[in-house]
Amino acid sequence: MTKNIDNRKIKTHKSAVKNWWNSDKTKKWQHGKMYKKDFKNHLHVLFRKNRVLELISGLNLPKNAKVLELGFGGAELAGDLLKSGYEYTGIDISKHLVKHAKKKHFKYLKNKKAKFINLSLEDKYSFKSNYFDLVIEVGAFQYAGNLTKTLNEIKRVLKVKGFFLMAQSNMYSFNNLMNFRRFLKALIWFFQKKNFFYNYSLSFKDILLSTELKFFKKYKNSKFMNFKFMTNYSEVWKYKIIKRLFSIGKMQKLLKDNQFIVKKVSGGPFIYNSKDNTTIILSMLNKTLQLLCDLKLPLIIRFADSGIILASKKNS
Ligand SMILES: C[S@@+](CC[C@H](N)C(=O)[O-])C[C@H]1O[C@@H](n2cnc3c(N)ncnc32)[C@H](O)[C@@H]1O
Repeated sequence: MTKNIDNRKIKTHKSAVKNWWNSDKTKKWQHGKMYKKDFKNHLHVLFRKNRVLELISGLNLPKNAKVLELGFGGAELAGDLLKSGYEYTGIDISKHLVKHAKKKHFKYLKNKKAKFINLSLEDKYSFKSNYFDLVIEVGAFQYAGNLTKTLNEIKRVLKVKGFFLMAQSNMYSFNNLMNFRRFLKALIWFFQKKNFFYNYSLSFKDILLSTELKFFKKYKNSKFMNFKFMTNYSEVWKYKIIKRLFSIGKMQKLLKDNQFIVKKVSGGPFIYNSKDNTTIILSMLNKTLQLLCDLKLPLIIRFADSGIILASKKNS
């Protein structure tokens, strides 16, 4: 059974996601900045996109294969897929990202190789059944309140021998576990078997409150809980979005529970530094972990920054 946000909260969640991705703040995705090699902050995003492309090229799809992407963002991957000759359809909840994608890939729109549609991946799709050779989702499922419906739609529009490629950030990434505050959060997620997270704050106060234990709630307003030491790194977010948490294991289970067959589990990177001061030792360690991961050591993959999973429909 896929864990979904309970029905009472789904409406609020959906509109919060829509508002966030239509707000001015998310316009930065349009610049495609995080995919530039010199934008060190998001090297993991570039790694993920390249790995996704590697897996797709290994599928040996026909030159004019039909590809559907859910939540295309700045339409960077779309550009690579279009260059490969595929017929590309993308859906995204953000009006400004759709507008931007249409402008960026106007050439392909004109020759009818590309379509960019403003639609939520949680809605019913207007595409024919058994139509796409490949459906891709990279870093968009964390915003979905109800994945059962989405996965059913993916199965419906996929051809019998089609593939589904899913790539998501890993809640137990090595990079997360190396930061004490993030490590604490991950421990709470692990022991409380959390499927969603509600706040981004890294203050000790908020981390303790996120356990939802009565004990901490009771002392919420106490002096101790409100010392600077406890409230440092506190962050309040205007858009109250609930994000779905994924581990490599959770991704595989989600697919299996929804009648997909997992064909390949890949992932990476392991260590990256947002301030670009990664030491030689750390980058060597990253390379070694990546090599071991690529040799398919299941335990190592579980700590990759992103999990990238290739699956097919069960009836194929
Ligand atoms: C983190 S970005 C990732 C974008 C892109 N896939 C990438 O990897 O660069 C998430 C994207 O998913 C889109 N998105 C979020 N919720 C969505 C939904 N319910 N339906 C469709 N798109 C959604 C956002 O508008 C955004 O473009």
